[in-house]
Amino acid sequence: DGNYTVTLIPGDGIGPEVSHAVKEIYRAANVPIKWEEVSVAPLIKNGKQVIPDESIVSIKKNTVALKGPLATPIGKGHVSLNLTLRRTFNLFANVRPCKSLEGYKTPYDNVDTVLIRENTEGEYSGIEHEVVDGVVQSIKLITYEASERVARYAFHHAKQNGRTRVTAVHKAPIMKMSDGMFLHACRQVAKEYPEIAYDEDLLDRACLRIVQDPAPYSDRVMVMPNLYGDILSDMCAGLIGGLGLTPSGNIGKDASIFEAVHGSAPDIAGQDKANPTALLLSSIMMLRHMSLFDKASQIESAIFKTIAAGERTGDLGGKLGTKAFTEKIISRL
Ligand code: NAD
Ligand code: IPM
Ligand code: MN
Repeated sequence: DGNYTVTLIPGDGIGPEVSHAVKEIYRAANVPIKWEEVSVAPLIKNGKQVIPDESIVSIKKNTVALKGPLATPIGKGHVSLNLTLRRTFNLFANVRPCKSLEGYKTPYDNVDTVLIRENTEGEYSGIEHEVVDGVVQSIKLITYEASERVARYAFHHAKQNGRTRVTAVHKAPIMKMSDGMFLHACRQVAKEYPEIAYDEDLLDRACLRIVQDPAPYSDRVMVMPNLYGDILSDMCAGLIGGLGLTPSGNIGKDASIFEAVHGSAPDIAGQDKANPTALLLSSIMMLRHMSLFDKASQIESAIFKTIAAGERTGDLGGKLGTKAFTEKIISRL
C-alpha cells in the first residue's frame, strides 16, 4: 500500500517476468506506490477491437501507468494495442533516452542522447488502402499541430535537462510536404527558445554519424516524426548493449505511460532470461515524473552497481536469470 496508485499493464511474452521484477524491487525499496494491475487484452465490440473499459478508466484515474510489451501480429485487421493506447490518451511525445552504462563496456563508451519521437500520427496513422489490385497506399499524415506540440516538448525537455541543442531529424528533401512542415514547426518553436541551439540533420546522415561517433550527440535532444524515432531508438539501443537496457516514456497532457523500447521477446519468453533493466529504467523515468526523486536514484544506483559488478543477464553476456538478477539488485538497495 502506498500514497500513489499507478496502473500496471504486465503485457505479453516477457512482460509478466520483467513486471514481476519491478514489483519485487519496489516492494523491497518501500516505494510508496500501490499497483493497480489491469489487462488490455482486446475485446470485440460491434466487430471492432477495443481495450477493456476498466483499463482505460484506471489509466484516466491514476494518470500514470507502467506497461509491459504488447505483441502486435503482422497483417490486416490487427491494430496494435500499443498504438491504440498512445492515441486514446493522446500521448504525443515518446521520450527515449539512451545512455552508456559506466559498468558495461561496448565499442562505444560515450553515448548519451535523448530521442523524442512524435507519437500519434505520421507513418502510424493507420490510413491504408488498396487502390487497385497490386497497388496500395499507406498515408503518412502530418499535422502542424502535432509537429509543433512535439517540437515544443523537445525544447522544453532540453531546457529542463540541461541540454543545449535540439536537432530535428528528417527526410525533407524527399518527403517535401510532410517532413517539410514538421521542420517548419520546429523552426517556429526554436524562435521561442533562443537559449537552445537548433539544427537539422537528415535521418540517413544522422545514423551514419551516430554509429561513427556518438559523442557529439550528448549535448542534445533529437526530435523526429514517428517512424524515424522508432528505427533510430533501436539503433541507438544497439550502441549501448541492446534492447534490454533502453527505457521510454509516452507523455501526454492528461496521462503518461512508461514502457521499455523492446517488445515481447517471444524467443526468450517464459524462460527466466529477460533483462528487466529496460522496464526498471522506464519505471525510474516514471518515478522522476512523479517527483519521487530519492527512490528513483536509490533503485537506479542499485541496478547500475549490479551490472558493473558483472552480475548480468544473458543479453549482456552474463549468467543470471531474471529472478537471480532481481535478487542481486535488491541486495544493493
Ligand atoms: P523484441 O524487442 O521483442 O525482441 C528483439 C530481440 O531483442 C529478441 O532477440 C529479444 O529476445 C531481445 N530482447 C528484447 N527485450 C529483451 C530483454 N528485456 N532482455 C533480453 N533480451 C531482449 O522485438 P520483436 O521480436 O521484433 O517483437 C516481438 C513482438 O513485440 C512483436 O509482436 C512486436 O510488435 C511487439 N513489440 C511491442 C512493443 C511495445 O509493446 N512497446 C515494442 C516493440 C515490439
Ligand atoms: C515501439 C514498438 C512499437 C512501435 C510497435 C510495437 C507498434 O516497436 O514501441 O518501439 O513501432 O512504435
Ligand atoms: Mn520499436
